[in-house]
Amino acid sequence: MAPIISVKSLDKFYDSGFQALKNLSLEIEEGEVFALLGPNGAGKTTLISTLCSLAKPTSGEIRIGGFDIQDDYREARRLVGLVPQEIPTAPFEKVYDTVSLSRGLFGLPKNPDLIETILRELSLWDKKDNAMMALSGGMKRRVLVAKALAHEPRVLFLDEPTAGVDVELRRDMWRIVGSLRDRGVTIILTTHYIGEAEEMADRVGVINNGQIILVEEKKALMAKLGRKKLVVELSEPLEALPDALKHYDLLLADEGQQIIYYYDQAKDSDIPNLLRDVSAAGIQFRDLNTSQSSLEDIFVDLVKAEA
Ligand SMILES: Nc1ncnc2c1ncn2[C@@H]1O[C@H](COP(=O)(O)OP(=O)(O)O)[C@@H](O)[C@H]1O
Ligand SMILES: [Mg+2]
Repeated sequence: MAPIISVKSLDKFYDSGFQALKNLSLEIEEGEVFALLGPNGAGKTTLISTLCSLAKPTSGEIRIGGFDIQDDYREARRLVGLVPQEIPTAPFEKVYDTVSLSRGLFGLPKNPDLIETILRELSLWDKKDNAMMALSGGMKRRVLVAKALAHEPRVLFLDEPTAGVDVELRRDMWRIVGSLRDRGVTIILTTHYIGEAEEMADRVGVINNGQIILVEEKKALMAKLGRKKLVVELSEPLEALPDALKHYDLLLADEGQQIIYYYDQAKDSDIPNLLRDVSAAGIQFRDLNTSQSSLEDIFVDLVKAEA
């Protein structure tokens, strides 16, 4: 199946001459939840803005649903909903109008039932007659989500959807993402909260300095990198590991003072057996500690390595 989004050799220079995206290529499959991770300034918002035709690519090709975003602008744009990172202000507009007008902008007929469903789903129904300026930051963000959903996009972009929002909105956001995904909507979200990607995404891409440095299935990434580490501090240094421990895949470190064991946190731990076998081999230890290599560490390491 053709990807719903295809980006080829995308470069983006800002007018200042700064290159925010560098020869970036990426394909997104229809129906997936794709998390784009990267530190501040990595280029996440620039990429999303370019995909949504808010910023112009300097060179490269972008297709959405097979439509070229420049040659077939209207068709491509119609498929896309965006919940932007910054909250734009139309202070006097009423919540209901803001949301329902969004359909008109895309040439779609009015659909009051849908608007009501969306507003209720986002706990906005009792605020529908309020002016935008009377809403709290969290409520404004809910309106942005409602607006993006009002024209029934096939692809939804969420730029830092949960940065600085309260727990309740965060929970609602994830519920909505879940139900959209169930309906087959493709979701691309940016975040610098790794936990979020860990929870929701099917695939993860890491962007740094305007370049995609890694794209992987989340499960594979976690399985590969989400390991725990056990350090056994020995009472006496060891010259070599005894044969009785060979099957554990251990490392001897710190001049024989430490045994290090990496293990898959998803599987049942072998640690009780390991410790029993260590004792049975006549090795005394004075301390133990475990630490976890989370997606967070992995991410920090990746970004550092690229710096
Ligand atoms: N309008 C602009 N003009 C010049 N540089 C910009 C502009 N917008 C963003 N940048 C720069 O482009 C880089 C990427 O920014 P952005 O896409 O907002 O990153 P992110 O969303 O990952 O934090 C940053 O270095 C930022 O300073
Ligand atoms: Mg951003």
